Amino acid sequence: MRILVLGSGAREHAIITSLLSEDAGHHITAAPGNAGIAANVEVVALDPTNGSIVRDYARDNGIELVVIGPEAPLVAGVADKLRAADIPVFGPTKAAAAIEGSKTFAKRIMDAAGVPTGRATRAGSIDAAVTAIDEYGAPYVVKADGLAAGKGVLVTPDRSAAIEHATYWLHHGDVLVEEFLAGQEVSLFLLSDGESVVPLEPAQDYKRAYDRDEGPNTGGMGAYSPLPWLGDDFVDDVIAQVALPTIRQMASEGTPFVGLLYCGLIITKQGTRVIEFNARFGDPETQVVLPRLVTPLSGLLFAAATGTLGRLPYPRFSSDVAVTVVLASEGYPEAPVTGREVTGLDEANAVEGVHITHAATAVLDGKYIATGGRVLSVVATGRDFATARDRAYRALGHIGLEGSHYRTDIAERVAE
Ligand code: AMP
Ligand code: GLY
Repeated sequence: MRILVLGSGAREHAIITSLLSEDAGHHITAAPGNAGIAANVEVVALDPTNGSIVRDYARDNGIELVVIGPEAPLVAGVADKLRAADIPVFGPTKAAAAIEGSKTFAKRIMDAAGVPTGRATRAGSIDAAVTAIDEYGAPYVVKADGLAAGKGVLVTPDRSAAIEHATYWLHHGDVLVEEFLAGQEVSLFLLSDGESVVPLEPAQDYKRAYDRDEGPNTGGMGAYSPLPWLGDDFVDDVIAQVALPTIRQMASEGTPFVGLLYCGLIITKQGTRVIEFNARFGDPETQVVLPRLVTPLSGLLFAAATGTLGRLPYPRFSSDVAVTVVLASEGYPEAPVTGREVTGLDEANAVEGVHITHAATAVLDGKYIATGGRVLSVVATGRDFATARDRAYRALGHIGLEGSHYRTDIAERVAE
């Protein structure tokens, strides 16, 4: 199949690695990709958020499936342009992507569909925000309503920090003040063709920058899959109580969701609650979910894109486990230092069971250079978590990047 993957992160590198592992002779192009992706497949320098350019490229190059990785092209309506041109696309329309792009929209869908989530109040003024902050009490949860590149959410015991965060984000739109939910977090990915859903295996993400969940929220510093501590019925329950009601609600409102519904869940004492939906694969969770997928990914994505997912059996997964650790530049997430050389990648890749997915890298004068905050994810698989962890951290020991940091406690809790 001729497949175009939009995006340039480690998630897209993981998707491409999975497609290549099928050995099906796919012709894969990435736009714009990164240095790691360019080492594996053809890359083209086109703007992935420009729907007309993507559509014309896909048409001119006989693309049979477009896979949209990040949220920006979805929210920009790239899937709409492709669908209008009858080009199969894995990714929701602009209207359906609002499930991620607008937290208020997501809450409304959840209310209408009876999906369990925390209480939340939308505030358009600082007075309203402060009232809600005091009503819910500490710890405070304040979120920007729209896309904020991972920076919009603050969870804090400090009332003045909560008010300051609300004040800042009110310059960009409304804010949401939420009830604090305590419990383990789970990321569950479900493929949907607008009607049916097919689950992938759950993963856990580490959102905070430093060990022991300290420091600021980030895009994600590491992940592991599967989650051995989850109950047997967990996935079926989420499908019944969260995914299907959401998919049906969206279809009934004339905004069917085609693509990947990312359920960000928290298991509270009162039961499982949705913290957020995303309209795309998660990063870094994709790096641990896809290497364990045995069923060919292309068939699943194509079936979702063409409305035939209901005919497929649930995908199969390897019994091996996977761990990923993100290497971040100095200063990430606040102000990443870029332009420094990354060394030791061949040695790291040579560690048994390890592969590297690139996020923010470029090649300059034959050397890899870090070009952003999350630079790469080291992915390790193994029979058990102790093995996979050991492999991932041994590989990281080979990688050099001045000032960089990574968490040392990824999957520690399941590795005993
Ligand atoms: P979000 O971008 O909405 O997923 O929020 C980022 C992270 O903030 C989540 O993964 C949680 O760790 C935390 N968070 C968000 N909302 C809440 C909440 N209502 N209660 C507790 N933690 C939350
Ligand atoms: N890892 C969190 C996300 O992809 O949104």
